[in-house]
Order: sequence, then C-alpha cells, then structure tokens
Amino acid sequence: MNFSKRMDRFGDEVFLALDERKRALEREGKKLFNLSIGTPDFEPPLAVRKALAEAAMDPANWRYALRDTDELLSAVCDYYARRFGVVITPDQIASCYGSQEGMGHISLVLCDEGDTVLLPSPCYPVFIAGAKMAGAEPWYYPMTKESGFLPRFSEIPEEVARRAKYMIVSLPSNPMGSVGTPELYRELIDFAKRYDILILHDNAYSDILYDGREGGSFLAYKGAAEVGCEFFSLSKSFNLTGAHISFLIGRRDVVAAFKKLRSQIDFGMFLPVQKAAVAALRGPREPVLRQCANYEARRNALCDGLTAIGWDTPRNAGSMFVWAKIPEGFETSAAFCLALMERAGVVCTPGSGFGPLGEGYVRFALVLPPEELKKAVKAIDESGILKNKGESGR
Ligand SMILES: Cc1ncc(COP(=O)(O)O)c(C=O)c1O
Repeated sequence: MNFSKRMDRFGDEVFLALDERKRALEREGKKLFNLSIGTPDFEPPLAVRKALAEAAMDPANWRYALRDTDELLSAVCDYYARRFGVVITPDQIASCYGSQEGMGHISLVLCDEGDTVLLPSPCYPVFIAGAKMAGAEPWYYPMTKESGFLPRFSEIPEEVARRAKYMIVSLPSNPMGSVGTPELYRELIDFAKRYDILILHDNAYSDILYDGREGGSFLAYKGAAEVGCEFFSLSKSFNLTGAHISFLIGRRDVVAAFKKLRSQIDFGMFLPVQKAAVAALRGPREPVLRQCANYEARRNALCDGLTAIGWDTPRNAGSMFVWAKIPEGFETSAAFCLALMERAGVVCTPGSGFGPLGEGYVRFALVLPPEELKKAVKAIDESGILKNKGESGR
C-alpha cells in the first residue's frame, strides 16, 4: 500500500521503542513509577458520572446529537461568566472531541498549503501535527529557560509575523509548566492586532496553578475575542480525559468556520457526554481547588526531592508537569529516559517529542501521590544515574 505523502510528515520511532521497553519491564515484574502519561489519576466527580449514566439509560439519547444542546451552551456561558468574568454568547462556542481533536483540525480551517503558523517550542505535540496535516509551515518561537519559558514577541522577525496566519499560545504550558501574566496577554493582543494574526489560546490547565496564582481565560483581556479564540478543555479540571470534552470559544467567524468543517465529518457530541459536561460545569468549585492543592503537594515532592538529590529542578508555576534538564553525560533525552527506566524504574517522556527545543529535557507527569513520588526520587538517587554521569558510570 502506498500511503499518502502526508503520513511521511509524522514520526514516532522514539516513543515506540520506549513503550516496548516499558512493556517488557512490566512483563518481567519490575516496579515502575509511570510518570509519562498526562492523564490524571484523580476521579471524575460523582455527579458527572451519574449524569452520564442516567442519560445513557434513555434510548432517546443514543441518536446523533447533531448540535450542542441549548442546555450545554448555556452551561458554558454561565461558567465563563462565573469563573472567568467573561461574557460570551452561544454563537461563540463550538464543542469538539477534546482540545486534541480541535487543535488537530483547526489548521484545516485556517490554512492553505505553505502558510506560516507560529508555534511555541517546546510545545504540546498536536500543535505541530495539526499544522503539518494542513501542510502549513511552522515557525517555532522559543519558550526557553532564558525567557522563563514564556513567549518573547521581540524574537519573532517582522517578516515572519507579517506572513503568519495564526499563533498558538498555551499557558499554563505543557511541558514546561510556565504561566502567563496580564502584561503578557496584553502584549499578545497588541502583537496580533499589529500583524493581523489569529491567536489560538489553548487553556487546558486553567485550574492547575500553584503558589497562590489564579487561572483565567485569554478572553478576559480587552480585544481578545476580536483577535482570537480559546480551546477550553474539561479534561484536567474534572478528570474527564477519556470523555474528550472541549470547546472552541471566541471569535464568531472562526467558530462558525470550525463548525462548518466539523459538520462535514461529525454528527455532534454524544448526548450523555453533553449531560456529563453540564454537570461538571455546574458543579461545585471546592473539589477542583482541593485537587489543585494535591497537585501542588506532588509538584513540591518531586521538584524538591530531585533538587535535594542533586538534580536541580526548579518548581514549575502551573500545569501537571515538571520539566527537567537531563543530567550531563547523556546525548539525548530518549537515551536518558531509557536509562532512567532501566536503572531506576522511573518512566518519563523525552523532551524531543515536544518540538525542536524540547531536546535536552524530560517531562514528568504528576500522576502519582507525593509518597510514591518520594519513592521514585529515592529510586533515582539509589540508581546512581545522577552521580555517575551517563552510560559510562554504570
Ligand atoms: C496543552 C494541552 N492541550 C490539549 C490537551 C488535550 O486536551 P483534551 O483532553 O481536551 O483533548 C492537553 C493534554 O494533555 C494539553 O496538555
């Protein structure tokens, strides 16, 4: 079979090799601390599960939904008003099967082959995959340690800005865990207006910020809904990753075009899932805040633990990830991940999977309780991988 040339744009060899080795170690019965996947280990709220189960018992809810229900749209509007102080109307909302799917498809709405798009580097991989699927050319703006893992607009050349179609900004960021500031968002909106660039803000971690920081919405800033949209996912706030519930919210013409594309390939979100989303959006806020405190305790256990054993890992400001520079003596993040898994039983993700500037780092997902993270840190310490520097130190 001659698969499409489009398929040549994607590669996954590194991850496949790591995954195979992980499975082999599991089969051998090795104790592993799996910090590689960003899917929460916390439970979805009971009210959400009940809403889904009850709705699923009604045969009428098994037909094609065709559209977002009025009940769901008003729950999203109310949530944005209550939580973020942002007034939106139903025609500014389009549901999608998670921000993953939304980001995967939006480039098809916005770009022709060869168009330039501005993507953060490092970044969440679907930003790159979506652009590639549409044949767009990513221009990676750096989000490195030097800039506090935040965008610096002055680093984007004028001629690149002039031809860019859209820019993705995603804060709190995955994998770096950096968090935006009001000044940054204002600068972003000015930049977008100056160069006529559409902003896509990926807001997956609005409820996971630490040290007293407050999460928010890009749309809360003046002028935001004129220059862009936000993907707003319920996955991480409410532990619903498998249900894939997210919304594109903001600029009306973009939302309408996105709905038009999706209506070609999709007949709407399963009605019981829409009911579950309503229950999540209308549910109490306390459990979400408690969960954030739990993530913070995990972040402290991992960052402080690693730093204490000689692996300098500054505390991240938000998201459910810790981004750590690989120790000296390892050529690639993938080689280090493999060694860490073999020698300490700790599984993490190589930075090379997060775009051109991801190499040299690894990502840990905070998906185990603090006691387990402390054990993982101890296993890393006892493996000697930090002191002996690379393979030669075995
Ligand atoms: C930045 C970012 N965007 C999007 C997603 C996926 O969101 P969803 O579960 O809504 O597809 C993730 C998941 O890890 C993420 O980190």
